[in-house]
Amino acid sequence: MGNRNFGWIVTWRITDRCNLNCVYCDHTVNHRPDYKEKINYPAIIDRLAQYKPKILNITGGEPTLVEELPHYLENIKKRWNPFVRVVHNGTNLSKAVTLFPWIDRLVISLDGPGEINRINRGLDGDRVIEKTASIMPDAKSHGVEVIINCVVTTENASHIESLVRNATRAAPDLQLSFMPVMPPEGDISILVKKELYADFITTFDKLQKEGFGIIHVFDTILRHETFKKISCYNQFFTLRMETSGALSSCAMNVPADPVFFVNKLKRFLTTGKLPNVFDRVKKMTSHALSDKPDFSCSTICNCESWLDLLFLGIESNCHRIYTEGLQGRISEEEYAEVEQFVKKYINPQFNLQWFKSMIDRGTSK
Ligand SMILES: C[S@@+](CC[C@H](N)C(=O)[O-])C[C@H]1O[C@@H](n2cnc3c(N)ncnc32)[C@H](O)[C@@H]1O
Ligand code: SF4
Ligand code: SF4
Repeated sequence: MGNRNFGWIVTWRITDRCNLNCVYCDHTVNHRPDYKEKINYPAIIDRLAQYKPKILNITGGEPTLVEELPHYLENIKKRWNPFVRVVHNGTNLSKAVTLFPWIDRLVISLDGPGEINRINRGLDGDRVIEKTASIMPDAKSHGVEVIINCVVTTENASHIESLVRNATRAAPDLQLSFMPVMPPEGDISILVKKELYADFITTFDKLQKEGFGIIHVFDTILRHETFKKISCYNQFFTLRMETSGALSSCAMNVPADPVFFVNKLKRFLTTGKLPNVFDRVKKMTSHALSDKPDFSCSTICNCESWLDLLFLGIESNCHRIYTEGLQGRISEEEYAEVEQFVKKYINPQFNLQWFKSMIDRGTSK
């Protein structure tokens, strides 16, 4: 039991190709849009169908560069109906619209109005807002939620108010989510600049009081005393499907998968980088030798860390949006298994009824 993965959420990096060059992205893994990828999508979908994740995050690279994406998502939706969330960079909203019959949420990455977005993402923010507003009626008619994801950095932190006001003026149904840039102790992170962070929270609270549909995902990170070595619980509930088809729970967990090792070796040969390799090997060994889960992590990512707060019994402003994908998708048997796991390894005071109520009330509407 200690080493099992519940597989509730899969994040699928569906392509390594991208048409932007954002400042904080990992460019060692991105290719140009015209790069020829050999990916056996039907085989990957068959593999995903074995796990039937409740939430499927489609990311990349840029997902809309995958020509057959609507067809693949139709297949997935018809096979096990997960909550499908596609993350899009705002360059191809006419393609994103073709996904609407098969998705539940479209997340559009946007870091500020006009030129502010250009600093982080090389794209005029006002143009993205305008195009987003134009697809809202279509999204509404398909029941698809549209959420702006803004990565907060030292460059855009003081522009969140104009982003919220401009975006919701153009499209009143839009919701906005604010994320800290990773790594949290890096040069462009506001978490190492106390005044900037304090100003950001003051502005956020003011806008929330005014009734704007906004969330932030900073408390999930700030619960850690240090970012160098954390305890991450959601790694036993999430899986990561790489473009190559290699499956792991996350960057900290080395899968027993030959495709994974070949790719790591290739990366090492081309970049000379093999981050945190000792921590990862130590972890693999501890999992092999012990029945206890090893929650340690030295490559903090904040991906599904909202789950950790729920396991610890801590409510966050972000839960109303994040829990929605699990709503109605967890059986009584699964709840009982989670209760046993969390009480034994994470939080003896875990309250299943409260956890259930947090998931059931999850709705961003
Ligand atoms: C990797 S992108 C892939 C999907 C698509 N290309 C896009 O940009 O929306 C997924 C999300 O991760 C965010 N992201 C990328 N690098 C990040 C970092 N270092 N810290 C926090 N978020 C990051 C992006 O802004 C985007 O919202
Ligand atoms: S658009 Fe997305 S994948 Fe491409 S560089 Fe930007 S964050 Fe990375
Ligand atoms: S925080 Fe670390 S252990 Fe948790 S999902 Fe991210 S990389 Fe994996």
